[in-house]
Amino acid sequence: MAILVTGGAGFIGSNFVLDWLAGSNEPVINLDKLTYAGNLQNLAPLDGDARHVFVQGDFGDASLVAKLLAQYQPRAVVNFAAESHVDRSIHGPGEFIQTNIVGTFHLLESVRAYWNGLAEGPKAAFRLLHVSTDEVYGSLAKAEPAFTETHRYEPNSPYSASKAASDHLVRAYHHTYGLPVLTTNCSNNYGPLHFPEKLIPLMIVNALAGKPLPVYGDGQQVRDWLYVRDHCSAIRRVLEAGRTGETYNIGGWNEMPNLEIVHTVCALLDELRPRVDGKPYTGQISFVTDRPGHDRRYAIDARKIEHELGWKPAETFATGIRKTVQWYLDNQAWVANVQSGGYRDWLTKQYGAQAKA
Ligand code: NAD
Ligand code: DAU
Repeated sequence: MAILVTGGAGFIGSNFVLDWLAGSNEPVINLDKLTYAGNLQNLAPLDGDARHVFVQGDFGDASLVAKLLAQYQPRAVVNFAAESHVDRSIHGPGEFIQTNIVGTFHLLESVRAYWNGLAEGPKAAFRLLHVSTDEVYGSLAKAEPAFTETHRYEPNSPYSASKAASDHLVRAYHHTYGLPVLTTNCSNNYGPLHFPEKLIPLMIVNALAGKPLPVYGDGQQVRDWLYVRDHCSAIRRVLEAGRTGETYNIGGWNEMPNLEIVHTVCALLDELRPRVDGKPYTGQISFVTDRPGHDRRYAIDARKIEHELGWKPAETFATGIRKTVQWYLDNQAWVANVQSGGYRDWLTKQYGAQAKA
């Protein structure tokens, strides 16, 4: 038995692979293209571990995926591979269409051909789990109830529109071909190995470097934060017991405005690594131009996965954010390594001169 994971060198994928092999001896075939967001260093603890087979390649490469499926005969595919950063999708949507829509389509075709050729038992047991996002549901007004699985799709950015399209394809492959799929729609993740282009790691890294902490607009946009390892445990649970053709929303009931997140990170750094001048890190906060089309609020109603599958997050935001800040303090070499030339170019494109102050 084995599972095939796509995008397992990225933030969530690498946490998933590490957690999977910490709790099971079932091998993982990890197919990742290693874009700017993929980092083999994330998987360094698995060096020399025969249970982890890393393959650099594109999940949309039909002949490569067919070869891997035939060779390893996985009982499941977990699809993390995607372009994942909203701001990048605004600067350049093309890559998001290609990866998230066309790539997912090719993966579905490869998996469908493989699944059709399986014997009855493995065919009945096979699962394709597609990892998606709460952003497909669009933006909530302040008093609106949280997103349930039946909330209408209303994506607002090229990123969320491309993820919505991929969800629709996955759904259609179940409805039309009977492919045994599961879809998860999760809220914002945070935790170790998070690439520092996203809010929380960017704030930690910039704070420590004495740089501005760029808050978009008024900083009152609300996100619903979940510790990454809780997302991983939810995916394992859905894979184990989810009903095929169903979608499961995953979240930690933890809505917070961005500015409050930044203040929390600053307070933890004040405690754990105070500035040499003794001043608070909040002094580095800098309000910058808002993200175009910025969604105001996301919130996940996680009752379906809680009631149906008995899943609950293990971390509160207070415990998870403390672990996260401590992880970045303890892993400065990892941070230095990901701050490659390409990443620095992105900072200049997105934040201009403010990135360098
Ligand atoms: P990430 O950007 O950190 O990682 C994406 C990974 O996919 C990288 O390793 C990259 O190299 C790989 N990849 C990209 N294109 C590929 C291709 N064509 N073939 C093979 N590999 C490819 O993303 P993440 O934050 O880990 O997100 C993983 C998944 O979870 C995505 O599908 C994302 O939409 C979804 N998601 C993310 C969050 C979040 O808060 N980060 C929340 C909900 C859902
Ligand atoms: O909701 C799930 C989604 O969460 C995932 O599908 C995406 O892959 C993931 O990137 C994340 O999207 P967001 O756009 O919510 O995450 P990001 O970290 O980019 O931004 C979080 C909030 O912080 C958002 O309201 C924008 C704001 N922000 C972000 C950055 C990078 C800032 O104010 N300043 C910043 O510099």
